[in-house]
Amino acid sequence: MALKEQLLLELETNRGAAISGQSLADKFGVSRNAVWKAVTALRKEGYQILSRTNSGYQLADDCDVVSAAAIKAYLPQQLADLTILTYKEIDSTNNEAKRLISAGLSDVALIIAQRQSEGRGRQGRSFYSPEHGGIYLSLIIHPNTAITKAMSITTMAAVAVAEAIEKMTGEPTEIKWVNDLFYQGKKICGILTEAVTDLEGALVQSVIIGIGINIGTVFPEQLQEIASCLPSQSINRNQLIAEIASSLYRMISNADDKEYLQSYRQHSLVLGKEINYLQNGETYHGTALDIDDNGGLIVRLPDGSQTILSSGEISLRLAK
Ligand code: BTN
Repeated sequence: MALKEQLLLELETNRGAAISGQSLADKFGVSRNAVWKAVTALRKEGYQILSRTNSGYQLADDCDVVSAAAIKAYLPQQLADLTILTYKEIDSTNNEAKRLISAGLSDVALIIAQRQSEGRGRQGRSFYSPEHGGIYLSLIIHPNTAITKAMSITTMAAVAVAEAIEKMTGEPTEIKWVNDLFYQGKKICGILTEAVTDLEGALVQSVIIGIGINIGTVFPEQLQEIASCLPSQSINRNQLIAEIASSLYRMISNADDKEYLQSYRQHSLVLGKEINYLQNGETYHGTALDIDDNGGLIVRLPDGSQTILSSGEISLRLAK
């Protein structure tokens, strides 16, 4: 790791405390002048680093630049080698993930952008991704598994994000099946999971889990009715990204442990409610009863029979 990254990791790990130039120099085996140069370089990249005579260097409380080094400060040891790529601007982190996989990437990797010019949502929709408006990331894994097993990753992702937000902010969130997150009645997060399959399509070689979370977002008028955001003051974005990545990675690695489904049910915005869903161009309605073990939505139809939705979109029916 370059001195700049080492220094950032140290400052992030010791947030809230000042560290003297001398102890940093001793720790990294370099001169105080080299430490000062690294601090200057980081400041040029936008990091607010305070320097106080007699106490040393300290990351400003509101310094929230997303970086690989800062995310690593919050990752558990088993993810210390996670490949993390950050971009100031990109078309879409999911597109970049696909390009990297095509070019032969075989590591578990996290792609993060500060802004997306063509952020994508499900069903061909776009995802509003302005700078300083949230977190836009894609986690790439290579499960080499059957498509049915890979589908539960979407469900896990929704749980990982909901739990991470609650842990860090204390704010309750709800999951609208399949994987939109709601906060105070409006959407704050969307998840787009895409699979790269082998030629026969029988095995999922890689999965790209694209997650967009609105934080401190200033929305254009047409989105203000339906979208909302988390308050930016309460969130350290590097820590939230690390929490989501590690919790999701843990769930995927212990896929037989179905505990995440219990959490999914507890966070559900739709269970017990009347819903509409679309199938072959027709709109149907029913009551959302439960989530099955594959993340499917069990729906009771007006004639009393039941059906299980395994993909698609639903909407809540307004009470008459
Ligand atoms: C949806 O709401 O329909 C899903 C939105 C998913 C947005 C995320 S942001 C990071 C990743 N890159 C994209 O282009 N989309 C996903």
